[in-house]
Amino acid sequence: MTDSPQFLKPLQRRCVLVCQHRSCLRNGSAEVLAAFQATVPNGVFASGSECMGQCASGTTVHIMPDNFWYCRIKPSDVPTIVQQHLWSDRPVESLLHPRFHPPAEWL
Ligand code: FES
Repeated sequence: MTDSPQFLKPLQRRCVLVCQHRSCLRNGSAEVLAAFQATVPNGVFASGSECMGQCASGTTVHIMPDNFWYCRIKPSDVPTIVQQHLWSDRPVESLLHPRFHPPAEWL
């Protein structure tokens, strides 16, 4: 965990779930989870999870309670998600799962 502001905003009390089931493990999800656990702000909990039903697009990451889904996450993506989403409340659009967050041009 890294240092964080003394007073957290409610959305900074988040849980980052990183799938640790077969397909995601083959795509490096253990390293993704380790990267989150090493860098999430105080007040954010990073944990492994069972399969989240998105096996073809792992590593799957689900951020709660704001309910954002990320797909095909690599360890190198974690610093961007931590900085932009967890610290600045700006989800990383280029990494969002299109099944849950379809791009505007699809609508
Ligand atoms: S194995 Fe990760 S979502 Fe199914």
